[in-house]
Order: sequence, then structure tokens, then C-alpha cells
Amino acid sequence: MNKLIRQYWRVILGVALGTTAFTVMQMQLHGSNEESIRFLIRWTAKMSVVCFSLAFGISSVFHFFKNDLTAWIFNYRPHLGLAFAVFHTFHLVFLVILQTHIHPVFTLAKTSSLIGGGIAYGLMYLMVITTFYKGKTMMRPGTWRILHLIGGYWIWAVFFRSYFKQVFLQDKGYLLFILISLVLVFRILRFFFREKDTMPVSDSSH
Ligand code: HEM
Repeated sequence: MNKLIRQYWRVILGVALGTTAFTVMQMQLHGSNEESIRFLIRWTAKMSVVCFSLAFGISSVFHFFKNDLTAWIFNYRPHLGLAFAVFHTFHLVFLVILQTHIHPVFTLAKTSSLIGGGIAYGLMYLMVITTFYKGKTMMRPGTWRILHLIGGYWIWAVFFRSYFKQVFLQDKGYLLFILISLVLVFRILRFFFREKDTMPVSDSSH
């Protein structure tokens, strides 16, 4: 096992153990009732959106602001992506617990939400697997890039939709809505500035 793969496993285990400890603490303090599980569903979504935003947005932020902090986050993009996936796996586990023991959350959800969320999970796990195999023979670099781009934007859209609804329908969730929106703003800015960089230099002599 090479050094990077060992680091990846450490992140996965660390986040899984930390979230398990947090869950046990929450259950001890507040019981294992519906409100407690819903709190954990919201908490894992919040941790996920922060890790995801850093992983998906940092390359664009780094393009404009190069300093030790942005360089450090940039280097740890795959680790942040994996942390996001672990938090989001707990999101799913808590949803299943809610469904099977307390409240039929999946049964009551809209089909469009289930499809959107289901695809997001599918893409997320493909991205996790291919993070481990990056640079190996599993897929061509172009395919790898497209998968991570489509997966990233799909997951971004599910987060954006959730926080958009919170802000405009429930008057809450402003901070995370700003965070997830900034990710897109920086990615768009980066796109335009990169286009500009690669434009052929015109002959100014005439
Ligand atoms: C089919 C799969 C999913 C189902 C059934 C589901 C269900 C839920 C439910 C019921 C809540 C509200 C919990 C509460 O307030 O009591 C919630 C919160 C949330 N979920 Fe999911 N979810 C799914 C997948 C996803 C995915 C894929 C994402 C993002 C990529 C996501 C992001 C969120 C966010 C951002 C919140 C709000 C957290 C907050 O209040 O800050 N969910 N989800």
C-alpha cells in the first residue's frame, strides 16, 4: 500500500470513528428518538457540504489566491472528497434508521428527490473508488476527469437545491447557501479567466 492510499484510509477511518463517537454522544445526551436522528441527518449534511465545497471549489480559489492555506487545502482535495463521502454515508445510514424504525422518510419523499439523491450517491461512490485508482489502469484520465466533473456538478446541484429551498422557503441556512454558491462563482470566474489565458495573442502591430 503506498503512502497516499494509507492516508486515504486514515481519513476514512478517522471521520467514521469521529462521527460514530459524536452519534453515541448525541444519543446519550438526547436519546435515540426521531429528533435526535433528524439532528444527525442535518449535522452530517452540514459537515458534508463544508468538505465538498472545499474539495470542489479549492482549485478555482487557488487560481486567484495563492497562499500557504489555499495550497494546503488544494493538496488535500482527495482527502476532503473522501471525508465528504464518509459523512454522507452516515447521512444515508441515519435516513435508513429513520425509515425502518421511526418515520417512512423514503416512502414519503418525492420520486424526483429520490432519483436526484440516488444518482448523487451513485456518482459519489464511483468518485471514491476512482480516487483510490487514480493514475492506475482503471480508466483513462479523460474519463476520470469527466466522471469527477459530472459527479461534482450533480452533487453541487443537490446541495444548492436544498439550501436554496431553506433560504427562500424557511428563512434559514444562509451561511451554507453562500458557501455552496461561492463554489460556482469561483468555478465560473476560473473558467472565463482560463479561457482568456489560452486565447491566442493578437498581433498588435497593425
Ligand atoms: C435519496 C436520498 C436522500 C434522502 C431521502 C434525503 C433526506 C433528507 C431529509 C429527510 C433531510 C431533513 C432532515 C430533517 O431536517 O429532519 C435531509 C437533509 C439534508 N440533505 Fe438529504 N437526503 C438524501 C440525499 C441527499 C444528498 C445526495 C444530498 C447532497 C448531495 C443531501 C443533502 C441534504 C442537505 C443539504 C440537507 C439539509 C441539512 C441542513 O439542514 O443543513 N441529501 N435529507
